[in-house]
Amino acid sequence: SAHRIDVVTIFPSFFDVLEVSLLGKARDRGLLDVRVHDLREWTHDRHRTVDDTPYGGGAGMVMKPEPWGEALDAIVADAAAPPVFVFPSPAGEMFTQATAREFAHEPHLVIGCGRYEGIDERVFEYAARLGRVRLVSLGDYVLNGGEVAAMAMIEAVGRLIPGVVGNPESLLEESHEGGLLEYPSYTKPASWRGYDVPEILLSGNHGAIAAWRREQQIARTRERRPDLLGE
Ligand code: ADE
Repeated sequence: SAHRIDVVTIFPSFFDVLEVSLLGKARDRGLLDVRVHDLREWTHDRHRTVDDTPYGGGAGMVMKPEPWGEALDAIVADAAAPPVFVFPSPAGEMFTQATAREFAHEPHLVIGCGRYEGIDERVFEYAARLGRVRLVSLGDYVLNGGEVAAMAMIEAVGRLIPGVVGNPESLLEESHEGGLLEYPSYTKPASWRGYDVPEILLSGNHGAIAAWRREQQIARTRERRPDLLGE
């Protein structure tokens, strides 16, 4: 049965790119069922208002709870079991490869894209009555809204669903699986503009190649991401 992801956003066309590439094929093959909803479908005023000024004052606008409540109700009414609600937020827990693996095991995710000033806090409390809730951040920087974060998460999660990536071994070798960065890769020609492919890779000595690659992984992890080595 397909993994289902509902996305609620005020920018549904943002997700048109899901038609292309690997995830588009996964959708065509019935592995991934992504449904994008326009939050404004659940407004009832002529301006289709989704935000309002913050109580207590301050900059920016806050997303009103009512359309969100109706959106979550409609999606849950159409679901077989309680979903996991994911709200991209710079104030969330960090989204990592481990989070992606967790989410890939969930049959139904609902991703609510808010603008970065936020969604009325009561929406999260209400969502917690309908299913589990996760606020997740892509990293320590601020985006204008949850859409780009949602796209990144859909791609990271989608490619872990069995059958989406053609060669499952490619999932095991890459950066962040195994806690080290990936080793450097080379293809033909062996010499290009004066740069040569490391000789060891042409040696045919598979044991020596594996050892060299491991050294490279450790060296570049120490250089670029000492935090991954606890250093
Ligand atoms: N929305 C705005 N900034 C974000 C971030 N860094 N991660 C997830 N969602 C966001």
